[in-house]
Amino acid sequence: MRLFRFFGYRGVTLERGEGQYVWDSQGRRYLDFHTGHGAAFLGHRPPRVVKRLKEQMDRVMVTTPSFDTPVLHEVLSMLRKVLPNDLNNVFFQNSGTEAVELSLKLAIKATKRRKFVAFKGSFHGRTLGALSVTWNPKYKEGFPSLDVEFANFNEPLELDESVAAVIVEPVQGEGGVIPSRPDFMKSLREACDEVGALLIVDEVQSGFGRTGEVWAHQARGVKPDILLAGKSIGGGFPVSLVAFTDEVASMIKPYEHGSTHGGNPLALAAVAGGLETLLHDGVVERAREMGALLMRGLSSLESKLVREVRGEGLMIGVKLRVNPTPVIKALQQGGLLSLKAGSTTLRFLPPYLINEKDVQDALSLIEGVLKAEESRRGLS
Ligand SMILES: Cc1ncc(COP(=O)(O)O)c(C=O)c1O
Repeated sequence: MRLFRFFGYRGVTLERGEGQYVWDSQGRRYLDFHTGHGAAFLGHRPPRVVKRLKEQMDRVMVTTPSFDTPVLHEVLSMLRKVLPNDLNNVFFQNSGTEAVELSLKLAIKATKRRKFVAFKGSFHGRTLGALSVTWNPKYKEGFPSLDVEFANFNEPLELDESVAAVIVEPVQGEGGVIPSRPDFMKSLREACDEVGALLIVDEVQSGFGRTGEVWAHQARGVKPDILLAGKSIGGGFPVSLVAFTDEVASMIKPYEHGSTHGGNPLALAAVAGGLETLLHDGVVERAREMGALLMRGLSSLESKLVREVRGEGLMIGVKLRVNPTPVIKALQQGGLLSLKAGSTTLRFLPPYLINEKDVQDALSLIEGVLKAEESRRGLS
């Protein structure tokens, strides 16, 4: 039996993870700026999440949303502290793409329209609905699609009354780590209001503190009708959520969606631990501080290969003039895990608990690797 590799294989067996580090089967330590595509933003084995999961395993591990559990009540009251005020309804799913699916279904029901507007460079997942609003043609070829129009990110947008919803990442991740401009996000809200369309804000990658705000859209002063979160909310446990207004809730009937495992007690225990970490461990402040340090360091690197350094908090992209794959490989050999975004961006998604020494270590390795790549290409 073999695993079919939809993702490129990195050639390493990871045996252990703790905080900002992982160790392979040879005992080599890596500083983890890959974090499972950003899911380990709270670090590996975050203590509050591990404790909550162990406790929950000794109570009840399985039920469906037909039953309440104490941990559900706890999570709902903690979520009230971190979610925008008018998003009073929440449903849990197991992955980001499922959260996107539900948001599209909600928008169709709430507006009785079928058309979506998404953006060039967007990534929202791989199931058919989410794939329809994802930009990269390479991922979509041969698959049927919902009715979707792709507009230019960060440019003025005009909508008509056939549009059910606009779906947007406040910081595009997979597309190359591109922060939205606040005026752009505000103009989306206005354009949606003008034609009665919903605004779906996908914070599966940018949310939960990573950008140095709990939610990246908050810094831009916009209110979503539907907010999506995933990746880091369960400290690495597979869980996502969809939060939506009462108005949207009033338009969908209970049997029009569901999920066996969505929001199961273990997932909720992980979210409880994740929320405690977010609320009590200075996650947002540290992401802002360490992000600024890393951005400053990256911006001052002198390399002919670097076009631009951009990002927010600990969601950082270094746009190169070349394919970043050899650089990512060399960084991994040097003990730093990173990933690609778009075709030329080197992406860093570190956990919030990196320290100044981690940043310095990463910067000297990155500098050395870029120099070596320059000379390999005869550019030095
Ligand atoms: C913004 C955004 N939305 C949705 C998804 C899909 O999430 P998942 O891979 O958990 O299905 C991702 C994954 O990278 C993402 O970055």
